Amino acid sequence: MTLAISTGAPFSAVLGIGGYRPRRVVDNAEICTLIDSSDEWIQTRSGIRERRWAGDDETVQMMSVAAARKAIDRSGVDAARIDAVIVATVTHLYQTPAIATAIAAEVGAVGAAAFDVSAACAGFCYGLAMADSFVRTGTAGHVLVIGVERLSDLTNREDRSTAFLFADGAGAAVVGPSDQPGIGPVVWGSDGDQAGLITQTESWDAAMEAETPHWPTLRMDGNPVFKWASYTMAKAAAEALSRAGLRPEDLDVFVPHQANMRITDAMFRALKLPSDVVIARDIQVQGNTSAASIPLAIEALLESGEAKTGQTALIIGFGAGLVYAGQVIVLP
Ligand SMILES: CC(C)(COP(=O)(O)OP(=O)(O)OC[C@H]1O[C@@H](n2cnc3c(N)ncnc32)[C@H](O)[C@@H]1OP(=O)(O)O)[C@@H](O)C(=O)NCCC(=O)NCCS
Repeated sequence: MTLAISTGAPFSAVLGIGGYRPRRVVDNAEICTLIDSSDEWIQTRSGIRERRWAGDDETVQMMSVAAARKAIDRSGVDAARIDAVIVATVTHLYQTPAIATAIAAEVGAVGAAAFDVSAACAGFCYGLAMADSFVRTGTAGHVLVIGVERLSDLTNREDRSTAFLFADGAGAAVVGPSDQPGIGPVVWGSDGDQAGLITQTESWDAAMEAETPHWPTLRMDGNPVFKWASYTMAKAAAEALSRAGLRPEDLDVFVPHQANMRITDAMFRALKLPSDVVIARDIQVQGNTSAASIPLAIEALLESGEAKTGQTALIIGFGAGLVYAGQVIVLP
């Protein structure tokens, strides 16, 4: 007895992208009221001028739904035809249920398979890799992928190694069938030996049982992460480009995770990309929004006209784990 298996579309593509940026803009001067730093240091060492922090009503669900509605509208796909919802986040603070089920219901993807992914700043690219496979194997017809974070909830505002970096927001993409290849092979992986470089200060139970109960926060050994991102991640990005069958001169747009402008520049140099390749620099106004950073940066480039529909974009996410994932996509 041989089982029947599902078969899907020959190719998949990103059909629409949308983002949500919290209302409150926090500039470096405000950050420096709590840490010993300066606007000049923050801009020179990270590229960040300002970031957004979510208000009480700008929850993980609210921001996700706002981003998803834009992505769905732009894709032209009826929300009822979305069969799977993947939400990449490390800041949905409930162990269960996944936030993806409530988001699926609210956007009208009624009954869709729905789950959360914990892959930090690589989460959106992990989700995109799964969505591509789902569509091409027939596991799902259309997939909604969301990257969303409220990192300000888990940031110690008095920690000068992280307070200026982390921020909040959401980005979403609708993936569906296509006549042409629209999502290249993923290059992804992890390095658990370096798990200690970006972690929580302590577990939730330890923080709650402490003499003064408090929330754990994120802590990071920035410099080793910086070196790993600049060198090892440039190699992974080069592999994603080559596995998509492209040479550096074939690429139109480069959208690395918005972790640090100097990392973006180091990767750009290591990849030997031509000077006319458009580079995402959303970090200047948005800080590091982890899983949301890549879709937010893509949306900004499309809205400003710097990047255009049909162009090829190399995207790569990397972060706590350590984990990474990158692929080439055709912009919607
Ligand atoms: C955090 C980061 C911007 C720090 O930049 P850096 O160049 O590595 O800086 P260092 O940590 O080596 O510190 C350099 C100096 O600046 C000082 N410094 C650190 N934070 C500072 C701050 N906020 N303001 C002013 N000075 C600061 C340090 O004390 C050190 O001083 P010293 O030379 O007198 O000892 C950078 O390491 C980074 O972006 N890392 C990667 C982040 C990332 O990719 N995360 C991944 C996903 S979440």
